[in-house]
Amino acid sequence: MKDSAIQVDGARLANELEELAAISDAEPPAVTRVLYTDADLRARAFLKKRCAAAGLAVREDALGNLFARWMGSTPQAPAIGTGSHTDAIPHSGRYDGTVGVLGGLEALRALRASGFQPRRSLELLMFTSEEPTRFGLGCVGSRALSGATDAKSLAELRDPEGQRLDDVRKAAGFGGDLAQVRLAPDYYAAFVELHIEQGPLLERESVPIGVVTAIAAPAALRVELEGAGGHAGGVLMPDRKDALCAAAEVVLAVEAAARATHGPDTVATTGVCKVHPGAINSIPNKVVLEIDIRDVALAPRDIALKAVKEAVAAVAAKRGIQARVTELNADPPATMAPAVVSAALKACKKRGYEARQMPSRAYHDSLYMARLFPTGMIFIPCRGGVSHRPDEFSSTDAIRMGVEVLAETLAELANT
Ligand code: GLV
Ligand code: MN
Ligand code: MN
Repeated sequence: MKDSAIQVDGARLANELEELAAISDAEPPAVTRVLYTDADLRARAFLKKRCAAAGLAVREDALGNLFARWMGSTPQAPAIGTGSHTDAIPHSGRYDGTVGVLGGLEALRALRASGFQPRRSLELLMFTSEEPTRFGLGCVGSRALSGATDAKSLAELRDPEGQRLDDVRKAAGFGGDLAQVRLAPDYYAAFVELHIEQGPLLERESVPIGVVTAIAAPAALRVELEGAGGHAGGVLMPDRKDALCAAAEVVLAVEAAARATHGPDTVATTGVCKVHPGAINSIPNKVVLEIDIRDVALAPRDIALKAVKEAVAAVAAKRGIQARVTELNADPPATMAPAVVSAALKACKKRGYEARQMPSRAYHDSLYMARLFPTGMIFIPCRGGVSHRPDEFSSTDAIRMGVEVLAETLAELANT
């Protein structure tokens, strides 16, 4: 490490990450923190307390996006934002999102302790529901902040129990006007998110920092297949309309669609399969699949998306069952802003850390922030590239180095 006045306290941050991981609905080491559940609300309370202790001014919007601001010497100028999410998909790990939130807070504390005086205000942002777990839509908070989704569609989203987002958020204590969530285009002069890579490249190449150049385009489909149920002993095979057998063909078609583009960046996953009625001696009459399709480039992603839709229609026709396809989202990719990429690369150089420029195959709230503001991301390695699993791991040293680079980047963006 080169000499710098900015000293990041890796041990304090590791302790905070551990405390946050304990606020969960899963047995440790797994973490589950779903939007507006008690665990989510307790995690928010934990963060607010830490932000207040750091002297930041905290506010929350009508969705629960949380902002913690360090006022600069020109408070009317567009601020510099940083942050990520604290919600966690069922049975995941402790670093996804949290490194960017608690690491962002640590970056602000380290900058303050160094005597740094920001000209632009610096603001930590904890986005509501980056994960799609509850309402089937990822990046709920950042979509609303960027205007990618309007207030009415957000209000009407329903969770698997049929509860409206608008009712659930109010019950959780977020009662303001959803139409006010959207940020003005000059709210931030730049936004930068620190995150674990969620892939193997940095670790494999022993490079401590990734500077993100683009974020892949995500799409998601819900496929509802309806056949005919009946007695597993009584209904003869030629008479069956088994919805799960149809679903099995669709799942394989999803895999084939991603492989068929022959690009290494097309990926497709069927992550949800709900079978009704789900009894061993009953023929499945209804199956709901949720399918995630992505690529760094839009064209191959859309080719795979189309191939999956065609496969669903073909399977339904062949098996004489009903199929309904709902496109949950199909978003374009984002290019990271050259000014933020250069600031991050300069920060790596200042610290003497090797950096690799790379795309992000996972999506992040930065995908939507990039629609309004010059945006960038800083990646750190995670063991084996593992994420969305309880054994997700980044070392305290790796996290500290990421926070150092984030702090230097914020300092550069705030005062130039
Ligand atoms: C975010 O968690 C993603 O699925 O990319
Ligand atoms: Mn995630
Ligand atoms: Mn994440």
